[in-house]
Amino acid sequence: MSILEILTIPDKRLKCKSSEVKIFDNNLKMIIEDMFDTLYDSGNGIGLAAPQVGIKKRIVVIDLKENNKSSPVVFINPRILKKSPEKSSNEEGCLSIPGYYADVERAKEVEVEWLDLKGKKNKKIYSGLFSICIQHEIDHLDGILFIDYLSSLKKKRAIEKVKKLKKKKNEETT
Ligand code: NI
Repeated sequence: MSILEILTIPDKRLKCKSSEVKIFDNNLKMIIEDMFDTLYDSGNGIGLAAPQVGIKKRIVVIDLKENNKSSPVVFINPRILKKSPEKSSNEEGCLSIPGYYADVERAKEVEVEWLDLKGKKNKKIYSGLFSICIQHEIDHLDGILFIDYLSSLKKKRAIEKVKKLKKKKNEETT
């Protein structure tokens, strides 16, 4: 097991489009294990996309930890097939934008298709927190961050906030 470094804004690697997974081997398994280790180590994260740890592949791991119960789910090459016309606005955060939260409007329900660790196809309709989380994570695979939906002023504020936080952390450790 290993904890990977989570990239934070304004790292350009977060803006890249990730490529599809084509080989379902042990290496993929290890990447996913490391991603879960990293997610759980973060403490407050409920989802992580591979590009957030510098891996340009279409892999997402989610564990909402609802009722304090762990329920890990892996999405390989996830795709949104359908979005409900109904929207909902919810406060979002991101491990790549630590300390910043803002409301984002997204589809209330989404139908998602993805492959599991063995390359088997799955399909499911998600609502509630899971729907928000999977939309947020799939965005990461296309280089889209939740602050991209905000005004340029708010976006600037988010970047400043993360910069300040990083500076403070550096001062504490040196
Ligand atoms: Ni995120």
